[in-house]
Amino acid sequence: MSFFSAQPKPVVRDSVATPIIGPLISMRNMEKVFETPAGRSYVLRRISGDIQPGEFVSIMGPSGAGKSTLLAILGMLDSVWTGEFYFLGHPVHAMSHKQRVALNKEHIGFVFQQYHLIDDLTVSENLDIPLSYRNVKKSEREAIVADTLDRFGMVGKKDLYPRQLSGGQQQLVGVARAVIAKPKLILADEPTGNLHSSQGREIMDLFKKLNNEGTTIIQVTHSEENAKRGNRVIELRDGWITGSEAAV
Ligand SMILES: Nc1ncnc2c1ncn2[C@@H]1O[C@H](COP(=O)(O)OP(=O)(O)OP(=O)(O)O)[C@@H](O)[C@H]1O
Ligand SMILES: [Mg+2]
Repeated sequence: MSFFSAQPKPVVRDSVATPIIGPLISMRNMEKVFETPAGRSYVLRRISGDIQPGEFVSIMGPSGAGKSTLLAILGMLDSVWTGEFYFLGHPVHAMSHKQRVALNKEHIGFVFQQYHLIDDLTVSENLDIPLSYRNVKKSEREAIVADTLDRFGMVGKKDLYPRQLSGGQQQLVGVARAVIAKPKLILADEPTGNLHSSQGREIMDLFKKLNNEGTTIIQVTHSEENAKRGNRVIELRDGWITGSEAAV
């Protein structure tokens, strides 16, 4: 377009005219309490805030701060808490177990801190599980699993069981399983905690690429370097959010 164009200037529309896309996640006053022999133990306190589609958020904080607890709730794996949690506008706090499981299967890939692979399934079979929830033909699923095994350098391990893998290899399978079905949201609890630094960087590169393609990512990490790959850091301490700042 020429600076000297005779065309009238386009009208700049204000933001009201743009479609309103709501947050992916809205948390309102969420609390988690454990009843222990020593009394009530609050693990999450008045957690509120929004996470927008396309964000890459890192949750940081000391051990025991409640990071895994919060991630499990956002992943709809824990239903014993109070407050409100909306996912894509749907009230998760008011849903049945069945509805939550369905929402999780459709939209969320979860990397567990302790891997949680299925012991009596091989690496390939573990990777096939998220695809089996989608409406994908068996032959296509096999091709996606083969491609993912290749991408993660695990082709030689495809018929082994989790107990036959090292901790780091199990973590890689855990990451592969979380991303394989291209979920809308990836929740990852210390996804590189057991990996060599170069492998850890590759996982962060993969997350960055998926995030650039539109996947929302929330990771728990103790690593400043990993947190820098995201756009925002939420700081948790003793169950309270003590900070929510742009990553620098
Ligand atoms: N079943 C339980 N009963 C009582 N307290 C529990 C239970 N599960 C977790 N907690 C407590 O909840 C708190 C938060 O645990 P959580 O696993 O969320 O911490 P975290 O921030 O993920 O820590 P880390 O960095 O070590 O993984 C801890 O103090 C823990 O002792
Ligand atoms: Mg944890």
